[in-house]
Amino acid sequence: MKTDRIQSAAPKPHEITPKEVYLNRRQFLALGAAGAAAAVLAACAPAGTGAVQPGQPTPTPLPDELNSFEEITNYNNYYEFSLDKQAVAVLSKDFRTSPWTVEVGGLVNRPQTFGIEDLTRLFPPEERIYRLRCVEAWSMVIPWLGFPLAELLKAVEPAGGAKYVRFVTLNDPDQMPGLDMPGYPWPYQEGLRLDEAMNPLTILSTGLYGEPLLPQNGAPLRLVVPWKYGFKSIKSIVKIELVEKEPETLWSTIAPREYGFYANVNPEVSHPRWSQASERRIGELSRRPTLMFNGYAEDVAGLYAGMDLSVDY
Ligand code: MTE
Repeated sequence: MKTDRIQSAAPKPHEITPKEVYLNRRQFLALGAAGAAAAVLAACAPAGTGAVQPGQPTPTPLPDELNSFEEITNYNNYYEFSLDKQAVAVLSKDFRTSPWTVEVGGLVNRPQTFGIEDLTRLFPPEERIYRLRCVEAWSMVIPWLGFPLAELLKAVEPAGGAKYVRFVTLNDPDQMPGLDMPGYPWPYQEGLRLDEAMNPLTILSTGLYGEPLLPQNGAPLRLVVPWKYGFKSIKSIVKIELVEKEPETLWSTIAPREYGFYANVNPEVSHPRWSQASERRIGELSRRPTLMFNGYAEDVAGLYAGMDLSVDY
């Protein structure tokens, strides 16, 4: 496992660039180029990732560049506020993120309720630059601040029968106008298998671009699972529960054929209504090939050994 490469000794954007500049400038990170910046995304190296099946053309790796703060904070999926990605920032601007507690329980030996400040004190955030690939076939590169979910789970001590982790978003109709929309089984819920949750790539994020998360990105605490479609990365978490059975999720309840529980980024398994072979990187004009497991195959493919990913999608 290459956690050290991902956590990286690379200079942080805020160490090499004044804040006013880096908040407005697209940073360039060359995939495959020598140097520390490339090491940040080294887990995404295309060769030998297992991304390509025999007989399939190898997708050409393209350089990854950070999306700007403006892009990341103004193009958001957050249905509790709106289906309009460009309206979420405005509609969520007064969302109260303090006080905030997260209940962590279920099949654990030490269930606990953490204040958000306790979490950042116990688990100091580190920077992780990850691709985010939405199931809708757009993508971004985001410099998150966060800590491994595994650290929190170890603190509550999973009990023997725990096999999955269930996550729940706040459900507050007074603050979230989208909750009035009919047809959605609120609250937003997501789930991971316990080994996926314990994988070092899986983080709970509290910030991005060196700043605390804004409401539109899931403040004060959201999940980030970079090898899965973005809908797994649930926002504004109030509850984390270890359970024995695969949990229901909002999207797999609404449309199980379209949004499976695993939701691993997979260019070879189309969504029933569109191809997943390529994506539109926000800020770019031409499409780029989608990489197996979003480019993180080297780190996560082993989690799915022996599974048929066209069945368990
Ligand atoms: N979490 C909640 N609670 N509600 C949502 O609508 N949308 C998901 C995910 N987490 C969503 C959510 C989807 S579809 C994506 S692509 C990402 O959040 C988008 O994260 P971003 O807006 O920070 O880029």
